[in-house]
Amino acid sequence: MEASSRVLLLFMLTLAATTTLLSLSTTPCSYSTARAILAATGLDPYLISCNTTTTGAATEEEEAPLSNADHGNNRTAKRGGPIVTDLLLCGKPEIPEVAFPPFQCCPPMSSSEPITFKLPDPAEPLRTRRPVHEVGPEHMAKYERAVALMKALPKSDPRSFYQQANIHCAYCTGAYRQVGRPELRVQVHYSWLFFPFHRAYIYFFERIAAKLLGDPGFTVPVWTWDVPEGMRMPAEFVNESSPLYDPVRDPGHLPPKLVDLDFWEVEKNLTDEQQLKHNMWVMYKQMISGAPLPSLFHGQPYRAGDTQKPGAGTAELAPHNTMHAWIGNWWYPNGEDMGAYYAAGRDPIFYAFHANVDRLWEAWRRVGVRNGGDKRRRAVEFNDLDWLDSSFLFYDEEARLVRVKVRDMLDTEKLRYRFSKVAMPWAKARPPTTPGVNNGKRGALKSVTFPVSLDAAISVEVMRPPVATRSRLGKVDDAQEEVLVIEGIEVQDAKFVKFDVYVNAVEYQKVQPGGREMAGSFVSLRHPGKVGDGVKTSMRVALNELLEDLGVKEDKSVTVTLVPVKGKVRIGGIKIVYMSE
Ligand code: C2O
Repeated sequence: MEASSRVLLLFMLTLAATTTLLSLSTTPCSYSTARAILAATGLDPYLISCNTTTTGAATEEEEAPLSNADHGNNRTAKRGGPIVTDLLLCGKPEIPEVAFPPFQCCPPMSSSEPITFKLPDPAEPLRTRRPVHEVGPEHMAKYERAVALMKALPKSDPRSFYQQANIHCAYCTGAYRQVGRPELRVQVHYSWLFFPFHRAYIYFFERIAAKLLGDPGFTVPVWTWDVPEGMRMPAEFVNESSPLYDPVRDPGHLPPKLVDLDFWEVEKNLTDEQQLKHNMWVMYKQMISGAPLPSLFHGQPYRAGDTQKPGAGTAELAPHNTMHAWIGNWWYPNGEDMGAYYAAGRDPIFYAFHANVDRLWEAWRRVGVRNGGDKRRRAVEFNDLDWLDSSFLFYDEEARLVRVKVRDMLDTEKLRYRFSKVAMPWAKARPPTTPGVNNGKRGALKSVTFPVSLDAAISVEVMRPPVATRSRLGKVDDAQEEVLVIEGIEVQDAKFVKFDVYVNAVEYQKVQPGGREMAGSFVSLRHPGKVGDGVKTSMRVALNELLEDLGVKEDKSVTVTLVPVKGKVRIGGIKIVYMSE
């Protein structure tokens, strides 16, 4: 066939598919004709996707307003249901103005409907994921080979490294739209989808690697950056001739530099000893004292009809986001590769890094149980169908399109892997308080009217609700967690943002990095959308243990100091609530 007639045929096929879609107004867009055409032509689904205005759904309702106050278990709300994606609803991602190609990141189309995920055969040997610093050179060489094999596959192969990297772009820059609500972008960060999505991502990546290597026992080596032995970037990733090398990383953070789990563009210039201690305290706060409830650890509920980013959990903000930023190169416009959602998957370190995020989920479950937490956590964090039935699309090791649900991702042994035991000294690293940093607080505070632009540090007195409202059975502390809620966080210039939250430390400069009064940090990677475009989110800080350590459990109020570190941000309001889950 001549080139020109091939183009014509393509055009007509596209037209036919578009017409098919236009004539059908229901969702999801499960039309085999359209799928078949896309699969056969290799065209990007974006070209004929049935999103936005083609379905007319966008005009039915305005974007769902954020309801930070009630992102809880309001099962009677009109909106709700699991978040579901469809290849035909994958479109243009939100990529920063100055970025590096590719600018489209939807996966190749499959000619058939996605198959339902099936757990691996229980007779499969249980594979053990081990830390990079323990696996030895032979295993690292295998990981190198796996990445080389993926890179050698044609770009059209969903198992190729190119497509594996694109998965992150598609699910993390709003390329997918919600089935049934195509005007709403899907974002797997800043909500309770964060851990299960990334678990599934690494699960399929690992199985594809194992298949290409012909080694069913292969596991992704885990870069355990949270423990002292793993606090440097592993040498294998720094070797320029290795397929694991990525030149787009911060050159100042190569070994022997220690990771800074609280990093945000500014170097702290701590000694190794200070940095290590600081990292331990960050881990303790984000994994233990700050994460006593599932939603505080995982993030806020995110249901069908909700706008993206209701609120991230502790560990996603830090160390996860902060480590993305630490690895990426700040001389690049968006902190590429690791510091930008659209590009993070392009760095082979991403998969070893996220294997560790996955390990931290397991670690949190164990720590929770040990600290007297809810034992059911080992099996399930939220008994909420909107979470359990939310689903993602991946291609498996046989290049079949699979729909996997959150409920499939809750038990690693059923997925036939586990993590080797790693000693976690941070589990006991309860940070010290700093005496005398809240002097002359009350009365002396300037009044603040919300919403407020956080141009300089602000301190506000926040009343604690009366005890009567926090006690159901007369047992205050065990029944409920006292939680500081920072609402209506609006990133103003679509850039990187970090601000720190201090409790009872008006003189916050005197608190050493990571000290007890530093109760949490909000961090957000660059968001390329328009100002105010879905970048409204919220943040929660657990207070029980903190107030106990500060010795102020009887006080009627606390002083909250918000300290801008980077970027422009507006704060809608601050309040304290009591929560239980
Ligand atoms: Cu989807 Cu580590 O980010």
